[in-house]
Amino acid sequence: AGGVLAAGGALAGGAVVVAGRDGPSDGPGVPQPSPVAAVGSLVEPFHGPRQAGVATEPQAHAAFVAFTLRPGTDRAALGRLLRLLSDDAARLTQGRPALADTEAELGLLPARLTVTFGFGPGLYRAAGVDDRRPASVADLPALRIDRLRPAWSGGDLLVQICADDAVTVAHAQRVLVKDSRPFATVAWVQQGFRRSPGVEPAGHTQRNLFGQLDGTANPRPGVALDTAVWVPDGPDWLRDSTTLVVRRISMNLETWDLLGRTDRELAVGRRLDTGAPLTGTGEHDEPDFAAVGDDGLTVIPDFSHLTRARVTDDRLKILRRPYNYDGVPSPQGHADSGLIFASYQADVTAQFLPIQRRLADRDLLNEWTTPIGSAVFAVPPGCPPDGWIGQQVLG
Ligand code: HEM
Repeated sequence: AGGVLAAGGALAGGAVVVAGRDGPSDGPGVPQPSPVAAVGSLVEPFHGPRQAGVATEPQAHAAFVAFTLRPGTDRAALGRLLRLLSDDAARLTQGRPALADTEAELGLLPARLTVTFGFGPGLYRAAGVDDRRPASVADLPALRIDRLRPAWSGGDLLVQICADDAVTVAHAQRVLVKDSRPFATVAWVQQGFRRSPGVEPAGHTQRNLFGQLDGTANPRPGVALDTAVWVPDGPDWLRDSTTLVVRRISMNLETWDLLGRTDRELAVGRRLDTGAPLTGTGEHDEPDFAAVGDDGLTVIPDFSHLTRARVTDDRLKILRRPYNYDGVPSPQGHADSGLIFASYQADVTAQFLPIQRRLADRDLLNEWTTPIGSAVFAVPPGCPPDGWIGQQVLG
Protein backbone atom coordinates (compact mmCIF):
# COMPACT_ATOMS: atom_id res chain seq x y z
CA ALA A 1 0.00 0.00 0.00
CA GLY A 2 2.63 2.47 -1.12
CA GLY A 3 4.31 2.63 2.26
CA VAL A 4 1.61 4.85 3.72
CA LEU A 5 0.63 3.62 7.14
CA ALA A 6 -2.50 4.44 9.04
CA ALA A 7 -4.06 2.99 12.11
CA GLY A 8 -7.39 2.99 10.34
CA GLY A 9 -9.93 5.75 10.58
CA ALA A 10 -12.60 7.65 8.82
CA LEU A 11 -11.89 9.50 5.61
CA ALA A 12 -13.41 12.77 4.59
CA GLY A 13 -16.53 12.09 2.56
CA GLY A 14 -17.71 9.40 4.89
CA ALA A 15 -15.67 6.54 3.45
CA VAL A 16 -14.02 4.49 6.13
CA VAL A 17 -10.57 2.99 5.90
CA VAL A 18 -10.27 -0.40 7.46
CA ALA A 19 -6.78 -1.66 8.20
CA GLY A 20 -5.74 -3.90 5.31
CA ARG A 21 -5.77 -7.62 5.98
CA ASP A 22 -2.70 -8.21 3.83
CA GLY A 23 -0.55 -5.79 5.85
CA PRO A 24 1.87 -6.73 8.61
CA SER A 25 -0.07 -8.05 11.59
CA ASP A 26 2.21 -7.65 14.53
CA GLY A 27 -0.56 -7.29 17.07
CA PRO A 28 -2.62 -4.45 18.43
CA GLY A 29 -1.26 -0.92 18.15
CA VAL A 30 0.91 -1.67 15.12
CA PRO A 31 -0.04 0.64 12.25
CA GLN A 32 -1.60 -1.23 9.37
CA PRO A 33 -1.32 -0.16 5.73
CA SER A 34 -4.49 1.60 4.63
CA PRO A 35 -5.91 1.02 1.17
CA VAL A 36 -4.64 4.38 -0.03
CA ALA A 37 -6.14 3.77 -3.46
CA ALA A 38 -9.53 4.45 -1.85
CA VAL A 39 -8.67 8.14 -1.43
CA GLY A 40 -7.94 8.49 -5.12
CA SER A 41 -11.08 6.82 -6.39
CA LEU A 42 -13.62 8.60 -4.15
CA VAL A 43 -16.15 10.52 -6.23
CA GLU A 44 -18.34 13.56 -5.50
CA PRO A 45 -21.45 13.95 -7.65
CA PHE A 46 -21.29 16.70 -10.30
CA HIS A 47 -24.91 16.86 -11.44
CA GLY A 48 -27.76 17.96 -9.20
CA PRO A 49 -29.88 20.97 -8.28
CA ARG A 50 -26.98 22.60 -6.44
CA GLN A 51 -23.33 22.83 -7.40
CA ALA A 52 -20.83 20.64 -5.57
CA GLY A 53 -17.81 22.11 -3.79
CA VAL A 54 -19.83 24.29 -1.44
CA ALA A 55 -21.44 22.06 1.17
CA THR A 56 -18.92 19.34 0.24
CA GLU A 57 -16.58 18.47 3.13
CA PRO A 58 -13.52 20.54 2.13
CA GLN A 59 -10.91 18.62 0.17
CA ALA A 60 -7.20 19.00 0.90
CA HIS A 61 -6.17 21.01 -2.18
CA ALA A 62 -7.77 23.87 -4.05
CA ALA A 63 -7.14 26.15 -7.00
CA PHE A 64 -9.31 29.21 -7.42
CA VAL A 65 -8.96 30.27 -11.07
CA ALA A 66 -10.46 33.62 -12.12
CA PHE A 67 -10.87 34.60 -15.76
CA THR A 68 -11.38 37.87 -17.62
CA LEU A 69 -13.67 37.44 -20.61
CA ARG A 70 -12.15 38.41 -23.95
CA PRO A 71 -13.90 41.27 -25.76
CA GLY A 72 -16.68 39.77 -27.86
CA THR A 73 -17.41 36.85 -25.53
CA ASP A 74 -21.16 37.41 -25.55
CA ARG A 75 -24.13 35.38 -24.35
CA ALA A 76 -23.86 32.80 -27.13
CA ALA A 77 -20.09 32.42 -26.68
CA LEU A 78 -20.52 32.09 -22.93
CA GLY A 79 -23.03 29.32 -23.57
CA ARG A 80 -20.45 27.48 -25.69
CA LEU A 81 -17.73 28.01 -23.07
CA LEU A 82 -19.86 26.79 -20.18
CA ARG A 83 -21.12 23.76 -22.08
CA LEU A 84 -17.51 22.84 -22.71
CA LEU A 85 -16.30 23.44 -19.16
CA SER A 86 -19.34 21.67 -17.67
CA ASP A 87 -18.56 18.64 -19.83
CA ASP A 88 -14.92 18.67 -18.68
CA ALA A 89 -16.02 18.94 -15.05
CA ALA A 90 -18.69 16.23 -15.41
CA ARG A 91 -16.10 13.79 -16.74
CA LEU A 92 -13.08 14.63 -14.57
CA THR A 93 -15.06 14.65 -11.32
CA GLN A 94 -16.26 11.13 -12.09
CA GLY A 95 -12.75 9.82 -12.84
CA ARG A 96 -13.03 9.96 -16.64
CA PRO A 97 -10.60 11.91 -18.84
CA ALA A 98 -11.91 15.05 -20.52
CA LEU A 99 -12.71 14.92 -24.25
CA ALA A 100 -9.42 15.02 -26.18
CA ASP A 101 -7.59 14.94 -22.84
CA THR A 102 -3.90 15.15 -23.68
CA GLU A 103 -2.93 13.46 -20.39
CA ALA A 104 -5.80 11.01 -20.14
CA GLU A 105 -4.15 8.95 -17.37
CA LEU A 106 -4.26 11.99 -15.08
CA GLY A 107 -8.05 11.99 -15.32
CA LEU A 108 -8.49 8.61 -13.68
CA LEU A 109 -8.11 9.47 -10.00
CA PRO A 110 -10.81 11.99 -9.04
CA ALA A 111 -9.93 12.05 -5.31
CA ARG A 112 -13.29 13.77 -4.56
CA LEU A 113 -12.69 16.38 -7.27
CA THR A 114 -15.27 19.15 -7.45
CA VAL A 115 -15.39 22.02 -9.94
CA THR A 116 -17.56 24.93 -8.83
CA PHE A 117 -18.41 27.77 -11.19
CA GLY A 118 -18.85 31.38 -10.09
CA PHE A 119 -20.07 34.33 -12.16
CA GLY A 120 -18.66 37.81 -11.51
CA PRO A 121 -20.57 41.02 -12.30
CA GLY A 122 -18.72 41.36 -15.64
CA LEU A 123 -20.15 38.07 -16.92
CA TYR A 124 -23.72 39.28 -16.55
CA ARG A 125 -22.81 42.53 -18.33
CA ALA A 126 -21.05 40.70 -21.19
CA ALA A 127 -24.06 38.41 -21.65
CA GLY A 128 -26.56 41.27 -21.45
CA VAL A 129 -28.40 39.59 -18.56
CA ASP A 130 -27.62 42.01 -15.75
CA ASP A 131 -31.22 41.62 -14.59
CA ARG A 132 -30.29 38.06 -13.56
CA ARG A 133 -27.33 39.12 -11.41
CA PRO A 134 -28.15 38.57 -7.74
CA ALA A 135 -28.22 42.09 -6.32
CA SER A 136 -25.49 41.46 -3.76
CA VAL A 137 -22.99 40.23 -6.38
CA ALA A 138 -20.88 43.37 -6.79
CA ASP A 139 -17.50 44.62 -5.61
CA LEU A 140 -17.42 45.01 -1.83
CA PRO A 141 -17.33 48.60 -0.56
CA ALA A 142 -13.83 49.89 0.25
CA LEU A 143 -12.75 48.90 3.75
CA ARG A 144 -10.21 50.68 5.94
CA ILE A 145 -8.17 47.50 6.44
CA ASP A 146 -7.92 46.68 2.71
CA ARG A 147 -4.65 46.78 0.83
CA LEU A 148 -6.12 45.17 -2.28
CA ARG A 149 -3.94 44.32 -5.24
CA PRO A 150 -5.52 44.12 -8.69
CA ALA A 151 -3.50 40.94 -9.26
CA TRP A 152 -5.67 39.14 -6.68
CA SER A 153 -8.99 40.91 -7.21
CA GLY A 154 -12.10 40.78 -9.37
CA GLY A 155 -12.78 38.37 -12.20
CA ASP A 156 -15.66 37.64 -14.61
CA LEU A 157 -15.71 33.87 -14.24
CA LEU A 158 -14.34 31.70 -11.45
CA VAL A 159 -13.68 27.99 -11.29
CA GLN A 160 -12.99 26.62 -7.83
CA ILE A 161 -11.23 23.29 -8.25
CA CYS A 162 -10.91 21.12 -5.13
CA ALA A 163 -9.65 17.56 -4.64
CA ASP A 164 -7.83 15.47 -2.09
CA ASP A 165 -4.87 15.22 -4.45
CA ALA A 166 -2.72 18.04 -5.83
CA VAL A 167 -2.00 16.30 -9.16
CA THR A 168 -5.73 15.89 -9.78
CA VAL A 169 -6.25 19.61 -9.13
CA ALA A 170 -3.36 20.55 -11.43
CA HIS A 171 -4.72 18.40 -14.25
CA ALA A 172 -8.26 19.76 -13.93
CA GLN A 173 -6.88 23.30 -13.85
CA ARG A 174 -4.88 22.64 -17.02
CA VAL A 175 -7.89 21.21 -18.89
CA LEU A 176 -10.26 24.01 -17.84
CA VAL A 177 -7.77 26.80 -18.58
CA LYS A 178 -6.91 25.31 -21.97
CA ASP A 179 -10.56 25.04 -23.00
CA SER A 180 -11.21 28.63 -21.86
CA ARG A 181 -8.45 30.18 -23.95
CA PRO A 182 -10.57 31.20 -26.98
CA PHE A 183 -13.05 32.93 -24.65
CA ALA A 184 -11.12 34.31 -21.69
CA THR A 185 -7.72 35.13 -20.22
CA VAL A 186 -6.52 34.08 -16.78
CA ALA A 187 -6.91 36.94 -14.30
CA TRP A 188 -5.46 35.19 -11.25
CA VAL A 189 -4.98 31.76 -9.71
CA GLN A 190 -4.84 31.13 -5.97
CA GLN A 191 -3.72 27.72 -4.83
CA GLY A 192 -4.21 26.53 -1.28
CA PHE A 193 -4.27 23.54 0.99
CA ARG A 194 -5.71 22.08 4.15
CA ARG A 195 -4.84 18.91 6.07
CA SER A 196 -4.59 15.78 3.93
CA PRO A 197 -7.31 13.14 4.18
CA GLY A 198 -6.64 10.50 6.78
CA VAL A 199 -4.12 12.47 8.88
CA GLU A 200 -6.86 13.33 11.37
CA PRO A 201 -10.20 11.71 12.18
CA ALA A 202 -13.12 12.95 10.06
CA GLY A 203 -14.90 15.99 11.43
CA HIS A 204 -11.72 17.40 12.99
CA THR A 205 -11.46 21.19 12.62
CA GLN A 206 -8.44 22.16 10.50
CA ARG A 207 -5.74 24.56 11.67
CA ASN A 208 -4.65 27.67 9.78
CA LEU A 209 -1.00 28.78 9.61
CA PHE A 210 -1.36 30.82 12.84
CA GLY A 211 -1.95 27.42 14.42
CA GLN A 212 -5.59 28.18 15.27
CA LEU A 213 -8.46 25.76 14.89
CA ASP A 214 -10.36 27.45 12.07
CA GLY A 215 -13.95 26.51 11.26
CA THR A 216 -15.36 25.69 14.70
CA ALA A 217 -18.47 27.88 14.54
CA ASN A 218 -19.34 27.10 10.92
CA PRO A 219 -23.01 26.20 10.41
CA ARG A 220 -23.39 22.42 10.78
CA PRO A 221 -24.38 20.34 7.74
CA GLY A 222 -28.17 20.11 7.56
CA VAL A 223 -30.77 22.77 8.15
CA ALA A 224 -28.35 25.35 9.60
CA LEU A 225 -26.05 25.15 6.60
CA ASP A 226 -28.89 25.03 4.08
CA THR A 227 -30.52 28.12 5.58
CA ALA A 228 -27.29 30.11 5.53
CA VAL A 229 -26.03 29.13 2.11
CA TRP A 230 -28.73 28.33 -0.46
CA VAL A 231 -31.34 30.63 -1.95
CA PRO A 232 -34.57 28.72 -1.20
CA ASP A 233 -36.89 30.14 -3.88
CA GLY A 234 -37.22 32.58 -6.76
CA PRO A 235 -36.78 32.21 -10.53
CA ASP A 236 -34.86 29.15 -11.74
CA TRP A 237 -31.61 31.12 -12.23
CA LEU A 238 -31.68 32.10 -8.54
CA ARG A 239 -33.20 29.15 -6.68
CA ASP A 240 -30.51 26.79 -5.29
CA SER A 241 -27.80 29.31 -6.07
CA THR A 242 -25.41 30.89 -3.57
CA THR A 243 -22.70 33.54 -3.54
CA LEU A 244 -18.96 33.30 -2.94
CA VAL A 245 -16.64 35.93 -1.53
CA VAL A 246 -12.92 35.17 -2.00
CA ARG A 247 -10.59 37.32 0.07
CA ARG A 248 -6.84 36.79 0.01
CA ILE A 249 -5.71 37.68 3.52
CA SER A 250 -2.02 37.79 4.27
CA MET A 251 -1.08 36.67 7.78
CA ASN A 252 2.05 38.23 9.25
CA LEU A 253 3.75 35.23 10.80
CA GLU A 254 6.80 37.34 11.71
CA THR A 255 4.93 39.66 14.12
CA TRP A 256 2.54 36.86 15.23
CA ASP A 257 5.65 34.89 16.29
CA LEU A 258 6.55 37.66 18.72
CA LEU A 259 3.28 37.24 20.66
CA GLY A 260 3.00 35.10 23.75
CA ARG A 261 0.42 32.35 23.91
CA THR A 262 -1.92 34.35 26.14
CA ASP A 263 -2.03 37.31 23.76
CA ARG A 264 -2.63 35.01 20.81
CA GLU A 265 -5.58 33.46 22.61
CA LEU A 266 -6.98 36.85 23.65
CA ALA A 267 -6.86 38.07 20.03
CA VAL A 268 -9.26 35.34 18.94
CA GLY A 269 -11.06 34.61 22.21
CA ARG A 270 -10.35 30.88 21.94
CA ARG A 271 -7.64 28.54 23.23
CA LEU A 272 -4.95 27.42 20.82
CA ASP A 273 -4.85 23.78 21.94
CA THR A 274 -8.54 22.85 22.14
CA GLY A 275 -10.16 25.77 20.30
CA ALA A 276 -12.44 26.20 23.34
CA PRO A 277 -13.73 29.71 24.08
CA LEU A 278 -11.70 31.34 26.88
CA THR A 279 -14.73 30.82 29.14
CA GLY A 280 -15.05 27.08 28.41
CA THR A 281 -13.19 23.80 28.13
CA GLY A 282 -14.54 22.14 24.97
CA GLU A 283 -14.22 23.37 21.37
CA HIS A 284 -17.98 23.60 20.93
CA ASP A 285 -18.82 25.11 24.34
CA GLU A 286 -20.95 28.26 24.07
CA PRO A 287 -18.79 31.35 24.75
CA ASP A 288 -19.86 33.45 27.74
CA PHE A 289 -19.26 37.00 26.54
CA ALA A 290 -20.46 38.45 29.87
CA ALA A 291 -18.01 36.55 32.10
CA VAL A 292 -15.63 38.91 33.91
CA GLY A 293 -12.19 37.99 35.25
CA ASP A 294 -10.41 39.02 38.47
CA ASP A 295 -9.08 42.11 36.68
CA GLY A 296 -12.64 43.32 36.05
CA LEU A 297 -12.33 42.83 32.29
CA THR A 298 -14.41 40.46 30.18
CA VAL A 299 -12.64 37.08 29.91
CA ILE A 300 -13.24 37.12 26.15
CA PRO A 301 -12.06 40.57 25.05
CA ASP A 302 -14.75 42.79 23.50
CA PHE A 303 -12.58 43.28 20.44
CA SER A 304 -11.57 39.63 20.04
CA HIS A 305 -12.20 38.10 16.61
CA LEU A 306 -14.74 35.74 18.19
CA THR A 307 -16.77 38.56 19.76
CA ARG A 308 -16.72 40.76 16.66
CA ALA A 309 -17.47 37.96 14.16
CA ARG A 310 -20.18 36.32 16.28
CA VAL A 311 -23.52 35.60 14.59
CA THR A 312 -26.23 33.64 16.34
CA ASP A 313 -29.09 33.78 13.80
CA ASP A 314 -28.73 30.81 11.41
CA ARG A 315 -30.10 32.89 8.54
CA LEU A 316 -27.28 35.40 8.92
CA LYS A 317 -24.36 32.97 9.26
CA ILE A 318 -21.76 32.40 6.58
CA LEU A 319 -20.07 29.15 5.55
CA ARG A 320 -16.31 29.62 5.70
CA ARG A 321 -14.39 27.25 3.43
CA PRO A 322 -10.88 28.71 3.58
CA TYR A 323 -7.60 27.30 2.30
CA ASN A 324 -4.12 28.10 3.58
CA TYR A 325 -1.60 29.56 1.19
CA ASP A 326 2.13 29.47 1.70
CA GLY A 327 4.21 31.27 -0.89
CA VAL A 328 7.95 31.56 -1.26
CA PRO A 329 9.60 33.31 1.70
CA SER A 330 11.54 36.51 1.02
CA PRO A 331 15.34 36.22 0.74
CA GLN A 332 15.40 37.34 4.41
CA GLY A 333 13.30 34.31 5.27
CA HIS A 334 10.06 36.16 5.93
CA ALA A 335 6.97 34.07 5.25
CA ASP A 336 4.41 34.81 2.52
CA SER A 337 1.51 33.02 4.19
CA GLY A 338 -2.16 33.54 4.72
CA LEU A 339 -5.68 32.44 4.02
CA ILE A 340 -7.63 32.18 0.82
CA PHE A 341 -10.74 33.12 2.78
CA ALA A 342 -13.68 31.69 0.86
CA SER A 343 -17.13 32.39 2.25
CA TYR A 344 -20.45 31.09 0.96
CA GLN A 345 -23.75 32.70 1.86
CA ALA A 346 -27.17 33.18 0.27
CA ASP A 347 -26.72 36.96 0.25
CA VAL A 348 -23.45 38.91 0.51
CA THR A 349 -25.05 42.16 1.68
CA ALA A 350 -27.23 40.63 4.37
CA GLN A 351 -24.75 38.07 5.73
CA PHE A 352 -21.10 38.59 4.83
CA LEU A 353 -20.93 42.37 4.78
CA PRO A 354 -22.15 43.13 8.33
CA ILE A 355 -19.57 40.70 9.74
CA GLN A 356 -16.81 42.08 7.52
CA ARG A 357 -17.71 45.66 8.48
CA ARG A 358 -17.58 44.84 12.20
CA LEU A 359 -14.20 43.16 11.74
CA ALA A 360 -12.85 46.05 9.64
CA ASP A 361 -14.05 48.49 12.26
CA ARG A 362 -12.49 46.71 15.25
CA ASP A 363 -10.89 43.26 15.54
CA LEU A 364 -7.71 42.48 17.47
CA LEU A 365 -6.69 40.07 14.71
CA ASN A 366 -6.36 42.99 12.25
CA GLU A 367 -2.95 43.71 13.76
CA TRP A 368 -1.59 40.57 12.07
CA THR A 369 -3.83 40.16 9.01
CA THR A 370 -4.20 42.21 5.82
CA PRO A 371 -6.70 41.64 2.99
CA ILE A 372 -4.74 41.84 -0.27
CA GLY A 373 -7.33 40.45 -2.71
CA SER A 374 -11.11 40.49 -3.03
CA ALA A 375 -13.65 39.08 -5.45
CA VAL A 376 -17.38 38.32 -5.38
CA PHE A 377 -19.20 35.75 -7.49
CA ALA A 378 -22.68 34.34 -7.89
CA VAL A 379 -22.64 30.54 -7.80
CA PRO A 380 -25.53 29.61 -10.11
CA PRO A 381 -27.64 26.48 -9.55
CA GLY A 382 -26.38 23.04 -10.58
CA CYS A 383 -27.48 21.19 -13.70
CA PRO A 384 -28.93 17.80 -14.70
CA PRO A 385 -26.83 15.24 -16.67
CA ASP A 386 -28.03 16.64 -20.01
CA GLY A 387 -27.49 20.24 -18.94
CA TRP A 388 -24.68 22.69 -18.26
CA ILE A 389 -23.79 25.12 -15.50
CA GLY A 390 -25.24 28.55 -16.23
CA GLN A 391 -28.06 27.31 -18.44
CA GLN A 392 -30.70 28.98 -16.28
CA VAL A 393 -28.83 32.30 -16.46
CA LEU A 394 -27.70 32.25 -20.10
CA GLY A 395 -30.04 29.81 -21.77
C1 HEM B 1 -14.10 32.58 13.65
C2 HEM B 1 -9.49 33.03 12.20
C3 HEM B 1 -10.90 36.21 8.84
C4 HEM B 1 -15.50 35.45 10.05
C5 HEM B 1 -12.73 32.44 13.57
C6 HEM B 1 -11.92 31.66 14.45
C7 HEM B 1 -10.64 31.77 14.03
C8 HEM B 1 -10.63 32.65 12.90
C9 HEM B 1 -9.41 31.12 14.64
C10 HEM B 1 -12.44 30.86 15.67
C11 HEM B 1 -12.79 29.46 15.35
C12 HEM B 1 -13.89 29.29 14.35
O1 HEM B 1 -15.08 29.44 14.67
O2 HEM B 1 -13.55 29.04 13.20
C13 HEM B 1 -9.48 33.93 11.17
C14 HEM B 1 -8.29 34.38 10.47
C15 HEM B 1 -8.69 35.27 9.54
C16 HEM B 1 -10.13 35.39 9.63
C17 HEM B 1 -6.88 33.90 10.78
C18 HEM B 1 -7.88 36.02 8.52
C19 HEM B 1 -6.68 35.66 8.11
C20 HEM B 1 -12.27 36.29 8.87
C21 HEM B 1 -13.08 37.09 7.98
C22 HEM B 1 -14.38 36.86 8.32
C23 HEM B 1 -14.37 35.93 9.43
C24 HEM B 1 -12.55 37.97 6.85
C25 HEM B 1 -15.64 37.42 7.72
C26 HEM B 1 -15.74 38.57 7.12
C27 HEM B 1 -15.51 34.59 11.11
C28 HEM B 1 -16.74 34.09 11.72
C29 HEM B 1 -16.33 33.28 12.79
C30 HEM B 1 -14.88 33.28 12.78
C31 HEM B 1 -18.16 34.40 11.30
C32 HEM B 1 -17.25 32.54 13.77
C33 HEM B 1 -17.65 33.43 14.88
C34 HEM B 1 -18.62 32.74 15.82
O3 HEM B 1 -18.16 32.08 16.73
O4 HEM B 1 -19.84 32.87 15.61
N1 HEM B 1 -11.92 33.05 12.63
N2 HEM B 1 -10.57 34.57 10.62
N3 HEM B 1 -13.08 35.61 9.74
N4 HEM B 1 -14.43 34.10 11.77
FE1 HEM B 1 -12.50 34.38 11.23
